[in-house]
Amino acid sequence: EEEVYKYYADGEWRKSSSGKSVSIINPTTRKPQYKVQACTQQEVNEVMEAAKAAQKGWAKTPLWKRAEMLHKAAAILKEHKAPIAECLVKEIAKPAKDAVTEVVRSGDLVSYTAEEGVRILGEGKFLVSDSFPGNERSKYCLSSKIPLGVILAIPPFNYPVNLAVSKIAPALIAGNALVLKPPTQGAVAALHMVHCFHLAGFPKGLISCITGKGSEIGDFLTMHPGIDCISFTGGDTGIAISKKAGMIPLQMELGGKDACIVLEDADLDLVAANIVKGGFSYSGQRCTAVKVVLIIESVADVLVDKVKTKVAKLTVGPPEEDCDITPVVSESSANFIEGLVIDAKQKGATFCQEYKREGNLIWPLLLDHVSPDMRIAWEEPFGPVLPVIRIKSVEEGIHHCNASNFGLQGCIFTRDINKAIMISDAMETGTVQINSAPARGPDHFPFQGLKDSGIGSQGITNSINMMTKIKSTVINLP
Ligand code: G3P
Repeated sequence: EEEVYKYYADGEWRKSSSGKSVSIINPTTRKPQYKVQACTQQEVNEVMEAAKAAQKGWAKTPLWKRAEMLHKAAAILKEHKAPIAECLVKEIAKPAKDAVTEVVRSGDLVSYTAEEGVRILGEGKFLVSDSFPGNERSKYCLSSKIPLGVILAIPPFNYPVNLAVSKIAPALIAGNALVLKPPTQGAVAALHMVHCFHLAGFPKGLISCITGKGSEIGDFLTMHPGIDCISFTGGDTGIAISKKAGMIPLQMELGGKDACIVLEDADLDLVAANIVKGGFSYSGQRCTAVKVVLIIESVADVLVDKVKTKVAKLTVGPPEEDCDITPVVSESSANFIEGLVIDAKQKGATFCQEYKREGNLIWPLLLDHVSPDMRIAWEEPFGPVLPVIRIKSVEEGIHHCNASNFGLQGCIFTRDINKAIMISDAMETGTVQINSAPARGPDHFPFQGLKDSGIGSQGITNSINMMTKIKSTVINLP
């Protein structure tokens, strides 16, 4: 009998009663690599019941003990970095070294969250009434942060481990229970990660991991009455979830079309290095990837040449060999990217390299002289294809950036710090990086998108706060 990875519920590994499984296709070989359980709605109900029950006890567990358990899980996670990274290589074609980095970064994130949680949750507020007009000093208000209840975490395929723990750790330190629905590509890596939490000894039912088809359990999970908060990272599905979800806090990080604005006085070698790293690392499959380069015309030729030289040096091939460019996650994703490339070709973009594709592997491609009538000027390829738009003024660059329906991050390259700050203020994005490519990390920095890029703010501190509510007790003096 073929192995089907079990799902995690009530502190144990279980087979689904559906008797069905979901296949995970290896993006490199395009053959089935692993199988996971196709859980049923009934199994979701059971997980929710268990989570609710476990959360009550967990909320009463001393904060320092909750932190201690998270530190333990972090250490176990780091010890198991090799097998988890191997799953990332096979399931999402993440280059081998980056796969290890993801797991280590995740361990660090869990530890940092435990420390931060102890500090910010260990503090409350004390108010007196006579500061507000008409009041005597007759009321004392004590307020502190309490958990929300059960958090549903839905991470995306590009960081199945890191973007799972960035939701799990804040949820747990704050005294919540956590239900994880991993992405199908990356589910096995996520199950291994959950096993590390299992080994750390968290109470039964507090954490669970449900696998299965979105069509079967997706809406059922996100609309479940047992859920008190949803933390989602991914694409358009997030918009659909936000419309269907109940009256609960939502934390969402959706797509981005991060612009890189390059001024005449920029250090062009620094810019080229950041465009290549920002645009092509993990083959462009990051919501914070540089997704459109806006260059002042006078420096465009020189910069495009520098980028071309660096792109020529990128290695292309299997993730096992730690190539820079690896196959994109699925055939449909590769087809979508190709559609954007064909559209740009038909509308007259300049191809700086030849367009080449084998299966899901797409060679890195820089498209120059892209114009706003091309789809790639606005849409997210989530692949190794980067458009360059030549601009006549900074205003034109800011205008293009703000005309996007996305507003995640952006970056500006200039030596003039005053100009950089003025441009940053004008850009309608959650974060602007000055003289570096966009990035979420370090993981304690606030991370948020405007417009269709998301709801709320992430980063360790913000996530802990978001997964809590304020509770006040008012003492009324006689
Ligand atoms: O695509 C997910 C987003 O969170 C990116 O993270 O670390 O690649 O900037 P990072």
